[in-house]
Amino acid sequence: MANCVLVIASFVAVTFAMVTAFEPGPLQDFCVADPTSSARVNGLACLDSKMVQANHFSFSGLHMPGNTSNPLGSAVKPVFVGQLPGLNTLGISMARIDYAPWGLVPPHTHPRATEILTVLEGKLFVGFVTSNPENRLITKVLEKGDVFVFPIGLVHFQRNVGHGSAFSISSLSSQNPGVVLVANALFGSTPSIPYDILAKAFQLDNSVVEKLQAQF
Ligand SMILES: *[C@@H]1O[C@H](CO)[C@@H](O)[C@H](O)[C@H]1NC(C)=O
Repeated sequence: MANCVLVIASFVAVTFAMVTAFEPGPLQDFCVADPTSSARVNGLACLDSKMVQANHFSFSGLHMPGNTSNPLGSAVKPVFVGQLPGLNTLGISMARIDYAPWGLVPPHTHPRATEILTVLEGKLFVGFVTSNPENRLITKVLEKGDVFVFPIGLVHFQRNVGHGSAFSISSLSSQNPGVVLVANALFGSTPSIPYDILAKAFQLDNSVVEKLQAQF
């Protein structure tokens, strides 16, 4: 079953990666996102540059731990274009991730970004899976100060395997990297993927699929 999830997820991931591997290079110094504009562009429309302030290029609070009191025991604080409008068109963003002991960021992909993760506190077990047909799992235990890269579109995960809490900072090669949580996408979509499709894909009984769907 795990095998099947990975096959499907890798296929989805590779398809996304081929379609949207690169963001266009900026054609001006900056293009601070104007959330009020209804213009449809690849990204967000630019605020009039005369209106731009230092605050548009700034975000505060990344020193604050996230609340990991949830079933996964992890918390992601994104600093994407939605939080930092000056990132618009620049093809880069970041995030802070906190992990309770044994906290997990479950298998997921970023359809539009490569991610570089740096452990700033604690010890993490991380891994990603190469695309079909190899589906090779590549893992490593990271200590404080270690850096790891998750190539664009590949399914990856992080788990805290240290004694206390942990946190990491990631840089991502998109202003809006997106996230596909593998389990949620397959078993928690709205509306649901017809259960017989999942039953056949995973070679499971319908009742097992229905149980999985009820979890998400
Ligand atoms: C953290 O989240 C839990 C669950 O939502 C909540 O009960 C708790 O008050 C939160 N803690 C803080 C410090 O915000």
